Amino acid sequence: MKIILSTSELLRTISELKLQNSTIGFVPTMGALHSGHESLVKQSVAENEVTIVSIFVNPTQFNNPTDLEKYPRNIDKDSILLQSVGCSIVFAPDATEMYAENELKQTFEFDFNGLDLVMEGKFRPGHFNGVVQVVSKLFRLVQPTKAYFGEKDFQQLAIIHHMVKSMGFDVQIIDCPIIREDTGLALSSRNERLTAQQHKNAIHISKVLFESRNFASQLSPQELTEWVTKEVNAKDDLEVEYFEIVDVHSLQQVTNWETKTVGCIAVFCGEVRLIDNIRYESHL
Ligand code: PAF
Repeated sequence: MKIILSTSELLRTISELKLQNSTIGFVPTMGALHSGHESLVKQSVAENEVTIVSIFVNPTQFNNPTDLEKYPRNIDKDSILLQSVGCSIVFAPDATEMYAENELKQTFEFDFNGLDLVMEGKFRPGHFNGVVQVVSKLFRLVQPTKAYFGEKDFQQLAIIHHMVKSMGFDVQIIDCPIIREDTGLALSSRNERLTAQQHKNAIHISKVLFESRNFASQLSPQELTEWVTKEVNAKDDLEVEYFEIVDVHSLQQVTNWETKTVGCIAVFCGEVRLIDNIRYESHL
């Protein structure tokens, strides 16, 4: 496995791969890798001749400086995991390698057709501008055949699909299912920051989400939203920032169960902000 730190070396390597007509699978990450990332990389290795994983804690997508500072980093451990699952190249640039100084001030404004105005976008202003800024730059450098994203970041995935269409990238986006612990807690790099007690409390989030499916046939989306919010907030040290039941395509809140829906939640567990989501059956 090759570790590349500079964009110039990455570009040289990509040119060689393109000359050989190799298919390139790409998994963009911010490191602190867990079994969720591992499953994306394994899928890429199975479906492509070459798999490239980027590790870059992108400063422009953090609206909270403490969150950026505390984001877990462990490149040595990450490299061991990536090597063991057959990753071919790790691209691990630093911020000055990725961005010119003016780009770090996040001067870009992308148009997401309203997808960015709800949920994460509402509570983390500028977040998706930063995500699209870095992912579009990575796509231009890596020129992947397929790129793999987890459904835990449901809104991010919707925005990436929109970005690929509107910017005309020739890449297939592969949506990958949420990977959970046996307890049901969705895997996240942020879980590393939970104390043992907070981890215990956080299990309650997915428990409530799964339980909510049983009530979807009896309650309206609004009633179910209230029920989930109340149940999660009832647990010590958990505070719901938002829970919304939205149409899977428009990400706008629904008032009935006639379309495909997903319930998306963001919860503070102490200082650590966790997200998760659950699909509901549509009943026409
Ligand atoms: O999902 C993430 O880890 C990040 O948002 C991504 C896609 C790697 C961009 O920095």
